[in-house]
Amino acid sequence: MAPAVSPNAAPLACEGSLPLTPHQARDAHRDEGELMTDLADPQPQPIMSSPDQFQSFQSPGASNWLEFEKNSWQPRPFGEKDIDIKIDCCGVCASDKHTISGDWGGCPYPLAVGHEVVGKVVRVGSKVTTAKVGDRVGAGAQVYSCQDCRQCKNDNETYCKDQIDAYGAPYLDTGYITQGGYSSHTRVDEYWVYPIPEALSSTQAAPMLCAGITVYSPLKRLGAGPGKKVGIVGIGGLGHYGLLFAKALGAEVWAISRSRAKEEDAKKMGVDGFLATGEENWTEGHKMTFDIIINTATSFDGFALSEYLSLLDIHGHWNSVGLPGGEGLTRREMLEMLELAADKGIKSWIEEIPISKEGLQKAMHNLETSKVRYRSCMVGYEEAFGA
Ligand SMILES: NC(=O)c1ccc[n+]([C@@H]2O[C@H](COP(=O)([O-])OP(=O)(O)OC[C@H]3O[C@@H](n4cnc5c(N)ncnc54)[C@H](OP(=O)(O)O)[C@@H]3O)[C@@H](O)[C@H]2O)c1
Ligand SMILES: [Zn+2]
Ligand SMILES: [Zn+2]
Repeated sequence: MAPAVSPNAAPLACEGSLPLTPHQARDAHRDEGELMTDLADPQPQPIMSSPDQFQSFQSPGASNWLEFEKNSWQPRPFGEKDIDIKIDCCGVCASDKHTISGDWGGCPYPLAVGHEVVGKVVRVGSKVTTAKVGDRVGAGAQVYSCQDCRQCKNDNETYCKDQIDAYGAPYLDTGYITQGGYSSHTRVDEYWVYPIPEALSSTQAAPMLCAGITVYSPLKRLGAGPGKKVGIVGIGGLGHYGLLFAKALGAEVWAISRSRAKEEDAKKMGVDGFLATGEENWTEGHKMTFDIIINTATSFDGFALSEYLSLLDIHGHWNSVGLPGGEGLTRREMLEMLELAADKGIKSWIEEIPISKEGLQKAMHNLETSKVRYRSCMVGYEEAFGA
């Protein structure tokens, strides 16, 4: 694999930089397989395209990771299965913070994180079949998998050995490092781009693309549904979706939080019960009664694992997703989750924050202090990056 280069390095290749006439542009887009209206169409579609350079709020380095800088950078060469998305909003995941703050051992700087994006398709490659220019779509924590290996073919494509993360990862042998959703645009393999159902607003849908699917997938795989008692540990971004989706699947749902501060909110999310682990004898009356517990805790300070495990019935399942690498989602599950959310009217609890250096600092602070209720979603991309 070629050595990774900084996304701020000199362009390796620059395609499509000459201005085109509208007809040339239309023909060029035709060649790329877009569904364009015929020339005789009285209401031609607006021609969209992606710029040569994308812009991002990047974290500059380990010692000053909160000093987000707005930079332009050269995206990797456009491929025949690529989709360019002009981003409208992006949720803020605790993994974003872990990555740029060095909690997980560092990352290639400068780096824009963010892996819960929704926006508009502005360009598609000639072999793309899953979306067309103008569609509202989302992308999550993955941007590529080979689609040919055993895991890709047995519904476990996030375990593909060639799977590429949305940020901080070398993209195949291009020498480029992926940049996340605190950006004007993103370039994603079509397999990892999802249509967003009309019933879901963009900011409602965006945080589902990592936080939502990370809990939905194990809930489904472990059989959460009627007759099952499900516990969700940690009521943050992931945890609040754990409550909402477990409820939507028909299970009896208990929130397991450190204190009672979030009890009222959890009730509004429909929980059947609430356990506060800071209280003495908090497991009393619940030992060996849970079928499934999903742990979304973001830290293990003072985490008494044996207490949590004492809640499980024989053959019950403990699933810890609060650590990296525990994901098992598939494209199929992602589409299924979005449909369920649309059908059942599931409402994400989000706080919209205009994207800027200060806005991102606020989002990171709210994560660090567990203040966020329950997912920050960065908005105002046109104001920050231009139309
Ligand atoms: N496996 C994956 O694919 C995947 C995907 C996304 C995120 N993640 C990871 O999942 C974790 C949660 O992410 P998030 O975005 O939901 O974070 P978050 O919004 O900060 O929520 C985490 C929650 O964990 C609980 N918590 C924090 N410290 C704790 C401790 N010492 N003991 C017990 N509970 C504690 C808190 O809930 P209470 O206040 O209710 O106690 C907090 O709200 C992060 O570590 C993230 O990196 C993994
Ligand atoms: Zn995430
Ligand atoms: Zn594969």
